[in-house]
Amino acid sequence: MSTERIRKIINNKELNRENLSYLIGLEGEERDYFLKSVGEEYVKSLGKKVFFRGLVEFSNYCTKDCYYCGIRKSNSHSERYDIDDKAIIDAAKFAHEHKYGSLVLQSGERSDKAFTERITSLLKKIKEVTKGELGITISLGEQSEETYKEWFAAGAHRYLLRIESSNRDLYYKIHPEDEKHNFEARINCLRSLQKHGYQTGTGVMIGLPFQNYDDLADDLLFFKELNVDMVGMGPFIEHTETPLYDFKDELWPIQRRFEVALNMIATLRLLMPDINIAAATALQAIDPMGREKALRYGANVIMPNITPTANRKDYTLYENKPCTDEGADDCSNCLSIRVEMAGREIGYSEWGDSKHFFKRTGKD
Ligand code: 5AD
Ligand code: FES
Repeated sequence: MSTERIRKIINNKELNRENLSYLIGLEGEERDYFLKSVGEEYVKSLGKKVFFRGLVEFSNYCTKDCYYCGIRKSNSHSERYDIDDKAIIDAAKFAHEHKYGSLVLQSGERSDKAFTERITSLLKKIKEVTKGELGITISLGEQSEETYKEWFAAGAHRYLLRIESSNRDLYYKIHPEDEKHNFEARINCLRSLQKHGYQTGTGVMIGLPFQNYDDLADDLLFFKELNVDMVGMGPFIEHTETPLYDFKDELWPIQRRFEVALNMIATLRLLMPDINIAAATALQAIDPMGREKALRYGANVIMPNITPTANRKDYTLYENKPCTDEGADDCSNCLSIRVEMAGREIGYSEWGDSKHFFKRTGKD
């Protein structure tokens, strides 16, 4: 095994495109050495803390038609649901009582007035019932600047909007090319979120058809260039009722997608040491200990699913989604044990904000 090149890249922070691509593609013993080195170094510099965000996937109605996603508008087999406000508020109370620190509200994408106004009032109510103590992240897609401003004023302070792929050509292979799925518009949304004060997160899928290690290296450089505060990225998992399923035979084996996803997390941790990196749920769909492995090698945020159980099975962005039949209580117990097994500590009741955000904005 030759570890010299890896050691040199880590020690000298030689993180050019070629080296990033090399790290992302590592296999076997060299890969093990790389992941372990990043994990050890990271804990030394940033500590063992991991933060919980209770995830509520409150509706799977979606006006968009991404080619990879199981809840896309054209999937007539998707059983649609929309959880009522009371159940969402109850989930927020659950997160607060269980000292999760923060909540993530996610749904399919809608931008009609009834939806945006509903979110504004929900955000205010959640802040009220949790005495302002629960941090709120939202992940509600592309919206107007006005809407972003309104939701920030109502209490959301972090926003997740994955770019899905920073390669424009690849972007249009996984989305229709129309005004509802516009690459530049998506980047503008990310800029607008930063401008309006959000801690801003993005991310990509790993192992998409037509994607290679260089594309993934460019994704990491894109995160750095855009100066984001948070990243969530996970393996692509093909869904039978989506157009990308046609390319299933061209994909890397699922296990390789998982490995490369961990390589991406560790490589990003080297490149952006002070951002928040989430251990994506899709990792757990492949390996029961997938998220815990991500925590070992650079991730510091985990999002326990606290969506009321009856609806969980219908938020199927991809198939084999984990924990769709467990209650939130089960998830909470099971997770704290898992995090400790990964050698990390839970930052109970802390917002766990991105350190990078405070540096970027001078609010340190
Ligand atoms: N496989 C993996 N991740 C997916 N997502 C959507 N569909 C899939 C899939 N088939 C991810 C997207 C989206 C996030 C909410 O879920 O990256 O931004
Ligand atoms: Fe719903 Fe892409 S299919 S946002």
